[in-house]
This record gives sequence, C-alpha cells and structure tokens, in this order.
Amino acid sequence: MGRNFMLNIADHHHSIIGYDKDPIKVNELNSLSDYSNIHATVDINEFVAGLQKPARIILLVPAGPVVDFVINDLTPLLEKGDIIIDGGNSYYKDTDRRFNELKAKDIHFMGMGVSGGEEGARLGPSIMPSGDRAAYEKVQIILNDVSAKYKDMPCARYMGNASAGHYVKMVHNGIEYGMMQLIAETYDVLKNGLGYNNHEISDIFTEWNKGKLSGFLIESAALVLMQMDPTNGGSLIDYIKDIARSKGTGKWTSQEAMDLQVPVPTIDMAVAARDLSAYANSRDKISAYRTPSDGKIKKEIATEDLQSALLVCITLTYIQGLHLIRVASRAYNYNTEMKDVINNWREGCIIRSGLLETFEKVYSTEGFDGMILADEDIYKLVTKHMPKLKKVVLFALQNDFGSSAYVASLTYYNMMSTNRSPMNLIQGLRDLFGAHTFERTDQEGVFHHIWK
Ligand code: 6PG
Repeated sequence: MGRNFMLNIADHHHSIIGYDKDPIKVNELNSLSDYSNIHATVDINEFVAGLQKPARIILLVPAGPVVDFVINDLTPLLEKGDIIIDGGNSYYKDTDRRFNELKAKDIHFMGMGVSGGEEGARLGPSIMPSGDRAAYEKVQIILNDVSAKYKDMPCARYMGNASAGHYVKMVHNGIEYGMMQLIAETYDVLKNGLGYNNHEISDIFTEWNKGKLSGFLIESAALVLMQMDPTNGGSLIDYIKDIARSKGTGKWTSQEAMDLQVPVPTIDMAVAARDLSAYANSRDKISAYRTPSDGKIKKEIATEDLQSALLVCITLTYIQGLHLIRVASRAYNYNTEMKDVINNWREGCIIRSGLLETFEKVYSTEGFDGMILADEDIYKLVTKHMPKLKKVVLFALQNDFGSSAYVASLTYYNMMSTNRSPMNLIQGLRDLFGAHTFERTDQEGVFHHIWK
C-alpha cells in the first residue's frame, strides 16, 4: 500500500520521499526511471532530513504496536508543528492516545482511514482524515489530489477531531462485514435453494450491479464467482474452505456499538457468522446428526425477491452504521458532518454503492434528528421492499439456511418500527428480583412494586 500510495502522490506532481527498512523495496522505488520526484531510503535520518517543513509523514504500517515503534523512531527527529498521519486501520482509542502523546510534544497526529485496498491506494482511495484542523489543511491538497473523486469532488473530506477518521473507517468496515455477509447469504440461497450454478449467480450479480444495488461488493462477488481454478478446473470458489477470517475491525464496531448502546444487529451477526465458521470440525460432526426440516427445498421465491431483500438489508446495514457514527460524534465531540461521511464513501471505498445516494438527501434535511429509519422517505423505501424480505427470510428458515444477517436486519426493522415491545415485562422482572424500578405509561417518575 505504501508503494502504491507513493506512486499515486508522485503522479500528482508532488515530490515524495519514502522510508522502509527493507532495502529491496527501497531499491525498487529508486530504480523507477519515470519518477524523478520519488526517492526512497532505508535511513530514517536521511528520510526526515529530506522532508520539507512542516514534515508531513504518512505511515502505512500494520495497525498495532508497529505504529508506536515507528512513531518512537521518528519523534526524536521531528520538530514542533510537524505532522504524522496514520493511514492504517488503527483502533481509534490508540489514535486518541497517540494524538495526546504527540500533542504534548507539539507534533500533530492525524488518524486517517483509507479504504480501497492496494488498487485504491494506487488509483484513488476513499480517505477519511481527522485530527487538528490546522494540520489537515496542510495536507488537504495532497489528500484531495490522490483520493477517489465523486462528481469531480475528492472523497477525502475532513471527518472531525482527534480519532474521528479511524472511527469512521472502523464503522465502514463494520458495514463491510454486514454487506459481505448479506451477499454471501444471497449466494447460498441462490445456489443451494434455487439451484443456480456459480456462473449463473455471477450473471445475476452482474445484472443487479446495473441497477439500484450497483456497488463494488456486488461487482466483486460476480467476479469471484466466475473465476476458474487454475489447478483443477471448475469454479475456484468451490475449492475455498467455508471459514472466514477477520482482522478485528468488524468486532470493534460491534463492541463499540454496545458501549454506546446503539443497536447494529446485522453487523453483530456478520461478526458472529465468521466466528461460527471457524468451528468447521464441530459443524461437520453436528451436520451428520441433523435431519433436514422437510427433506426437500421448495422453489417458492424468485431472484427478484432476493434482489429486493438484499437491497433493503443493505440499506438497513448502512442505517445502523451511520446511526453509530452520529452517536459517537456527539459522545466524543468529533463534530463529524454526516453528509461528508456519505460523500467520502461514494467512490474508492469497499462499501461504495448507489444506495448511499438516499442518505445524502436525509442528512440535508433541516432538523433531522439522527435516526434515519424515522425519515419518511427512507421508511417508505424500506417498507416497499419489506414483503419480499419477509418472503425470503421465511423461505430461508423453512429450508434450514443460516441467513443470519437477513434475519438480523428484518428483526432490526421489526423492533425499530413497533410501539409495543415486550420490554415492559423485562422491567417488571428487573424490578421483581433487583428492585431496579420501572416507569409507568400513565404517570411520570420511577416506581417500585412489592411483587410477592
Ligand atoms: C478497505 C478494507 C480493508 C481490509 C479490511 C479487511 O476498506 O480497504 O476494509 O481495510 O480489507 O481490514 O478486514 P478483515 O480482515 O477483518 O475482513
């Protein structure tokens, strides 16, 4: 990513110096004859001495302790007003700590989410920068130049104070988990429920990608499903184990959502589904005991039903993630402009999709209070597709599919759109065994009852 980001910056006529401990990578960069504005070194002193002031340094190293090691190596060589930008998937609490540690040394630290993978870094990623506004303004031109563009505008808008950029990127990844889980569950029903083969499913996704569902992940799923295995022939997908790994950003989103008491059940289920997939041996064993519910699958849904169901579930996943960012922005004083989050996600990032357009309008509404599902237009859009989602979920459950993210999305909708939840009984029970009190529908205040 570092190399690609450097090439991207150099392509936009900025001079850049790179530092890596690996001489092979450094030599390779120095031998690029087309790039006289790139220089690379294995010597950290030469690297810092070669920077214009204030120094603007982007770190593209693995999240975790490595970021601290690099910062510790760099800081003795830096001066007041210099800027370090962490472009990795760092945990936002680490970013806040680093921000404060470096602030005490008068060095600016910026957390910057970058999405789009290696190709994005080379051709234009979505960039989510944050930190001191003054520091951001010193790198704004470069970030705008190298980022993806949506309607000619850079997808690199300022996300807010301190760790806002890494927070927004964390939630981006949580949404990414949810969307991928939904797409995977759609593939499962298309393949094992409706009997389509991988190439046919690839064609279906390609078709959907031309409409409202168009987006990077649908397009990519079509590509993955049509790949042939170079060794054995047949579809490569059929040789991939059904165990999904993770690096943790989805889990952080769920943990964080629970801390802030923001419900994100689609993302929670996507994290749990990956965790569950790791129990391959147990799944194998248990599946041998299991009797399918009725032994045969009824083909009572059409691909159009799945298309609508996927659309509404992805919309509900965005709603959950955006709600979390909105609440976090207030809790942590990020001052994040929600419209800017949407605009940064329109191009370059993994979760880009046409469906984001709907949210742009919501955040432009005067007096909008943050709960997107309460917006009339969004509610109407979701409700329109609801009968098909219910049909798909019923089909999936009747035929023993996991469909966890589908069920979680439908549950989220059902629970968010009812004014008669059974939480009154929960309160009654809490008061019975713990004297936790309850509120009444007919009187203000808190009450306790002697239940026995
Ligand atoms: C991106 C991706 C990127 C990475 C994820 C994968 O926006 O470019 O999200 O950050 O691919 O970290 O996360 P998992 O390994 O947890 O699936």
